[in-house]
Amino acid sequence: MPSTSHFLALVTAATGALGHAVVTKPQPRVAGPAYTELCGSTYSTYMEKDPAGPIENGVAQAGSSLGCNAYLCRGYQYEDNEAAAYKVGDVVVFHVDLIAGHHPGFANVSVIDLATNTILGDPLKVWDDWPNATATTPRSDIDFNVTIPESLTSACDVGGKCAIQWYWYAGGNKQTYESCVDFYVPA
Ligand SMILES: *[C@@H]1O[C@H](CO)[C@@H](O)[C@H](O)[C@H]1NC(C)=O
Ligand SMILES: *[C@@H]1O[C@H](CO)[C@@H](O)[C@H](O)[C@H]1NC(C)=O
Ligand SMILES: *[C@@H]1O[C@H](CO)[C@@H](O)[C@H](O)[C@H]1NC(C)=O
Repeated sequence: MPSTSHFLALVTAATGALGHAVVTKPQPRVAGPAYTELCGSTYSTYMEKDPAGPIENGVAQAGSSLGCNAYLCRGYQYEDNEAAAYKVGDVVVFHVDLIAGHHPGFANVSVIDLATNTILGDPLKVWDDWPNATATTPRSDIDFNVTIPESLTSACDVGGKCAIQWYWYAGGNKQTYESCVDFYVPA
């Protein structure tokens, strides 16, 4: 069936232009009722079709119906999730499910203050060029560890104040990808 295979080739080419990636370890923030209520069902329905897809597409789809900051944790809400307890010095093992890479791009991992959407302290990881086009396994761009810094003990003492945010910006297509890991540092 030449027409079908031609169609499939076009679909593959079209989706190949999009990047797709999401953190799968540790458990990142996910969708829930508070998110759908605040962001709106147009945005949430669109984004949940592809949890690894770029934020910009959902924002464009939602238009004026968007009721949340989509660029803070992809719009996902703390109310729908739970914070992990990490001690200072704990090594947190990350895995990014990279479904489709796209260049050029950069990525970083930072602890963010959720109330102000600002970075706390120094970034935990910075990649000037992400994903690594020549990477061989084990890949340090998608499998990496971060260490919980001492400077966060008071700023992140209870759940809902801080998240570790993984951030990827694919500059060619102007597409943003984010995953947040809620955590707190128990006293
Ligand atoms: C990480 O990405 C965010 C979003 O663009 C940016 O605000 C921040 O400056 C970046 N951090 C580094 C160290 O590049
Ligand atoms: C990309 O991967 C290659 C092959 O594993 C490695 O030699 C290189 O250092 C990596 N680049 C960066 C920036 O980590
Ligand atoms: C990350 O930490 C785990 C557990 O401590 C360790 O087994 C693994 O080798 C570390 N990975 C990297 C890339 O350092």
